[in-house]
Amino acid sequence: MGTENNLMKKNSKMKADLKFIRNEFPSLRDDYVYFDNAGGSQTLGRVINKVTEYFMTSDVQLGGVYSVSKTARERVDKGNEMIAKTLNASNPREVIVGSSSTSLIRLFSIVIGQTLEPGDEIIISDCDHEANVTPWKDLQRHGIIIKTWGFDKKSMRLELDDLKNLMTEKTKYVNFCHALFNWH
Ligand SMILES: Cc1ncc(COP(=O)(O)O)c(C=O)c1O
Repeated sequence: MGTENNLMKKNSKMKADLKFIRNEFPSLRDDYVYFDNAGGSQTLGRVINKVTEYFMTSDVQLGGVYSVSKTARERVDKGNEMIAKTLNASNPREVIVGSSSTSLIRLFSIVIGQTLEPGDEIIISDCDHEANVTPWKDLQRHGIIIKTWGFDKKSMRLELDDLKNLMTEKTKYVNFCHALFNWH
């Protein structure tokens, strides 16, 4: 359908096709300019339509034997598959969709914390959102050691060599956000 190709006009030094992009987001169609962050990301019109379709025709429990439940399961699975593809995950089961990253990471840290021993180490970065910092720091009360991978102000990156220096036999998890932009 060429949607991705439309987002950026490749032959014009990756210049964004703003008219096309605005049109894809109903909330931005009236020249509205949105400058806030991830938590308030605007929603694509096609996503709104799909979610509406889901609620209108298949808003039931998953895992049932009746046909609407099977349709709902297929739709949820398809969504996870598409997210996995976008994120380059090796398996849709690596994808978790939930109410917010803050609540999901908190839940994840509680579960992970139950598998760790005092003295085990977790590495976090100093340029992550609060949602990916405090849940891990809270594990310190169970004897988990938290180390911080510092952002390199010269290169403006998290440097892998700095990470290597932090890692030991006791390192169990490295938690940091990875953002990617994938046009294909
Ligand atoms: C960069 C970044 N990460 C994470 C979050 C937390 O997201 P959520 O609202 O899904 O908990 C936000 C919220 O604005 C954010 O801006």
